[in-house]
Amino acid sequence: MIKKKITLLNKKFSSPISCLTAYSASTAKILDGLVDIILVGDSLGSTLYGMKNTQGVTLDMMKRHGKAVIQNVKKSITMIDMPFKTYTSRYYAFKNSEILKKHTNADLIKIEIDERKINIIDHLAKKNLDIVAHIGVTPQSFSNFNKIKILGRDKKERIRLTNLALNACAAGAKAILLECVTENTAKEITSKINIPTIGIGASKYCDGQVLVFDDMINSEEKENNPKFVKKYLNFYKITKSAVRKFDYDVKKRIFPNKKNSYQ
Ligand code: KIV
Repeated sequence: MIKKKITLLNKKFSSPISCLTAYSASTAKILDGLVDIILVGDSLGSTLYGMKNTQGVTLDMMKRHGKAVIQNVKKSITMIDMPFKTYTSRYYAFKNSEILKKHTNADLIKIEIDERKINIIDHLAKKNLDIVAHIGVTPQSFSNFNKIKILGRDKKERIRLTNLALNACAAGAKAILLECVTENTAKEITSKINIPTIGIGASKYCDGQVLVFDDMINSEEKENNPKFVKKYLNFYKITKSAVRKFDYDVKKRIFPNKKNSYQ
């Protein structure tokens, strides 16, 4: 576990970086100090609010959840997503990231980029904001997640993504988040840039790995889970059985008992 926040981005060549999402104070308290980075991701739109995609997530939602999480993080590095359409120009990107930064005190701000957004990284980096560039599959571009495809299978796409990462790096990004790209592409990008890559569905050839916390604990039974998700716990099953037990206890007047009552 990396203790000093500032050392993370110099850790490219040492131990792999671990990152999980958190949207609430309670999850933040569990994760703090156990993973290197805690990400307040805009995946909260679908995971927490049941939205179909992340396009409905607002700056206010990110401010609220960001503050709840980050004020409960003492050891890990914190990262927060800029939501859809809040960084459409350099002006708005700075205005909104300043708002998010001031409100939440996040260490890193993540934006989803393509070639047209390199100028935004450059602008924000010059304003002393620590920016993570999210490339590969960028969920904010999809209204239907079923249309997401793995990127980097052909040479042209691999070169495009590598150049995008190199340009983001040159523009001042502090790390690259690589989503759903092939092993070869992840390997090439990671070897060519001098900032860390953090992958999700991007193989072991990244400097770090991120997962959505709710996916790794299986908080919800889903028909199709992407194969990059590893479930470390079946929260859904365990919780269902606890809830059944509670219902039973109430109906049989087992709960509350003397111990749970005031005399
Ligand atoms: O919003 C999020 O949780 C993310 C991860 C999928 C990396 O961006």
